[in-house]
Amino acid sequence: MTLINEIVYTVGAFCCGYFVMNILVAILDGLCTFVGSRNLRNYGSWAIVTGSTDGIGKSIAKELAKQKINLILISRSAEKLSSVAKEIADKYNVEVKTTAIDMSQTSTADYSNIHKTYADLDIGIIVNNVGLSYDHPEYLDTLDTERMWKMIHMNVLPVTALTKEFVGSMSSKKKGLVVNVGSMSGLFSTPLLSVYSASKAYVHTFTDALRQEYAEKNIHFQVICPMFVSTAMTGMRPSISCPTPDAYARSAVATFGKTNFTCGYWAHSLQTTIYGLVPKFIFESNQMKVLKRGRARFYRKQEQKKE
Ligand SMILES: NC(=O)c1ccc[n+]([C@@H]2O[C@H](COP(=O)([O-])OP(=O)(O)OC[C@H]3O[C@@H](n4cnc5c(N)ncnc54)[C@H](OP(=O)(O)O)[C@@H]3O)[C@@H](O)[C@H]2O)c1
Repeated sequence: MTLINEIVYTVGAFCCGYFVMNILVAILDGLCTFVGSRNLRNYGSWAIVTGSTDGIGKSIAKELAKQKINLILISRSAEKLSSVAKEIADKYNVEVKTTAIDMSQTSTADYSNIHKTYADLDIGIIVNNVGLSYDHPEYLDTLDTERMWKMIHMNVLPVTALTKEFVGSMSSKKKGLVVNVGSMSGLFSTPLLSVYSASKAYVHTFTDALRQEYAEKNIHFQVICPMFVSTAMTGMRPSISCPTPDAYARSAVATFGKTNFTCGYWAHSLQTTIYGLVPKFIFESNQMKVLKRGRARFYRKQEQKKE
């Protein structure tokens, strides 16, 4: 065997070992994260969930109600809120209060009013779930400007301002759980979804920073970071890698209070681990191709609708 062969074999063995080690660590981490769950009532008897009339937020609210946690649902439509509140209260025998607010155009007063309304309740958990994405992959210069403003507002302000309102009382009680819904796009910068991707990176960084800031106050800050979930946002059919919101929430809520960061669903964690092992230049060029194809498909469909 030549020296070159030996070097190639050694590097190959090292790379395989590195890959296998990462997968094993991910599996072990997954076992610790996804097996068993905490008694979430220990944080307090009430939870706030934003964006809770549909999709992941509604399913998370139902999972919390199963654990006999009373709910404050904050979402856009008063009508949908009262129907979801009735559905959950009847099924799980918990108290449900609601606040209707358009979280894409909030003001300072909106958050202080929410605080005033619910200040007397024993709020132990906040799930900052509300979020807005693109309706199709797009270049920044041709992205609808109003959507861009709404996206930044909705993905950044509610998580920040709502947490600010309630973190003080959690600090005084020396307990609390704040779960912020990020995204895989916040983890891997995503072209043609740049504004969404960057706004979700904010959620990740904000949560990490607060965890350190309030470490002495016994408040747990956690990011859950889904990939694709079959909701109105994605319009995708359920599959092994794209769970229904109920399946996603069942798995994600079981991780609440147990880890700082999780994709919330085993298939998403596995995908994220594998993507993290792909060399960046390969991952990025492939990602751009896939999103360009998605953009082209969107415009083809628009053309077909016109015909
Ligand atoms: N679905 C995924 O694949 C995926 C992947 C990664 C991350 N995420 C993140 O997960 C979170 C939830 O996503 P989802 O797919 O469950 O979304 P969704 O199905 O579109 O539901 C969003 C929820 O937010 C509410 N909402 C929408 N606009 C609002 C506004 N302006 N003000 C107040 N509430 C508003 C909706 O109310 P209405 O019922 O009135 O519409 C609904 O209850 C988001 O933060 C998203 O970025 C989702």
